[in-house]
Amino acid sequence: MEDDFLVKVLNLYKNQKWKEIIELNKVENAVAARKLLWVWPSESNLQMMQNTIREFNLDGAISIGCGCGLFEWLLEQYSGLPIIGYEVNQEWWSSRYSNPQFIKLNFPDQPPTPEILIPSYALLFCYFNDGKAFREYISCYKGNVVFIIGPGHGAGRHTDPQPFSPNFGSNDWILYKSQEVRDTRDFIAVYIREKIDSIIS
Ligand SMILES: C[S@@+](CC[C@H](N)C(=O)[O-])C[C@H]1O[C@@H](n2cnc3c(N)ncnc32)[C@H](O)[C@@H]1O
Repeated sequence: MEDDFLVKVLNLYKNQKWKEIIELNKVENAVAARKLLWVWPSESNLQMMQNTIREFNLDGAISIGCGCGLFEWLLEQYSGLPIIGYEVNQEWWSSRYSNPQFIKLNFPDQPPTPEILIPSYALLFCYFNDGKAFREYISCYKGNVVFIIGPGHGAGRHTDPQPFSPNFGSNDWILYKSQEVRDTRDFIAVYIREKIDSIIS
């Protein structure tokens, strides 16, 4: 059953049928889907992210802890914008036990260095699970927009950072807007640097 689901997703991926992949998000697929992706976005979620990237005149997004990169591939297909993926544990991702990968994975030094975090890209953390590493990435990032995707309060799931109570390690960031991922009680929160010189409206 789970293998059938994976084969279906891979076939659609090979044929670049991203809309059909989005539509696979049905209750009966939930367990198999979670193996590939913690958050299965809707088109309006992707639209909100694309609009935000464009609103701030950015070139794309860098996803930290992108996993197999399916969310990132969907965002790339929807928006036409480049999405760069970062992961840890290259050995595991190269092994036969790992999920197939939907975008190229990059494996930055840990702790990361500033040159990998291109300021003209937004940062994306989807169901990230390491608050200390989050703050290390943030302290290297000179850009203005950070997406945090994770469970809302009371959803019974945990991420670090949480979308509505992230610890950035400074007061430089404010919540700009947020959107629920369909009706899952997962949210996409958009944070911006408190003092942005040029916001393009
Ligand atoms: C819960 S998974 C979420 C994966 C994917 N974003 C999703 O939503 O399905 C968290 C991911 O963060 C990665 N990760 C943990 N620490 C990291 C770090 N310091 N840099 C990059 N990735 C990291 C893990 O390897 C794991 O794949």
